[in-house]
Amino acid sequence: MQQIIVAPSILAADFLRLADEVHRVEEAGADWIHCDIMDGHFVDNISFGPDIVGLVRKETNLPLDVHLMIRRPDHYAPRFVKAGANSITVHVEREADHDVGKTLSVIRDAGCRPGLSLNPATPFESVEPFLDTIDILLVMTVHPGFGGQSFRPEMMEKVQRAEEWNESRARKIDIAVDGGINPETARLSIQNGANVLVAGTSIFHAKDYAKAIRELRGIR
Ligand code: DX5
Ligand code: ZN
Repeated sequence: MQQIIVAPSILAADFLRLADEVHRVEEAGADWIHCDIMDGHFVDNISFGPDIVGLVRKETNLPLDVHLMIRRPDHYAPRFVKAGANSITVHVEREADHDVGKTLSVIRDAGCRPGLSLNPATPFESVEPFLDTIDILLVMTVHPGFGGQSFRPEMMEKVQRAEEWNESRARKIDIAVDGGINPETARLSIQNGANVLVAGTSIFHAKDYAKAIRELRGIR
């Protein structure tokens, strides 16, 4: 069976106790720490930048999975590499304003795993030309910008298409879902082929982080 990776998004953590929150999810069984970077341009919200990612790096040895919901990710990616990111995911949409292929190769050449993401309104075809060059496909299951939104089941078609692509290739890419992930939507996503679950609210707003993470994996 496929190994499921759970990546808590610290966007939903208590920022005044960020170090403690990171330690708690690590102890609770998190596999990666997902860092949602928002610039107020690509999405209508502002979160945090490379300095905070660098502070998180000092608190954990877990892989830091950086999701850039920003314009000009080509310009900023090197700062997140320096801050200690292990994977960096950029957006394919025109509004991100960069040469997608070039940014992905800069990320790989810097020793990070390159990822590509697409918004709910963006068709699967827009990422197809890049699948051979990425390690992670991050399917947005909500419109990016804010935590706590409802999962869009229609996005499962993109997950299925990524899974079909994986089946036709020797090299597999991680298929991640991001937004509105709870035990029920996690199960649906895994059934359709996802192996990485990004979750903010359902982990950080739970009382027992270990139980929340186990439930996302389908363990009661
Ligand atoms: C959405 C972000 C997500 C989000 C997930 O813009 O990319 O990572 O924080 O949060 P929940 O799990 O609350 O939907
Ligand atoms: Zn994210």
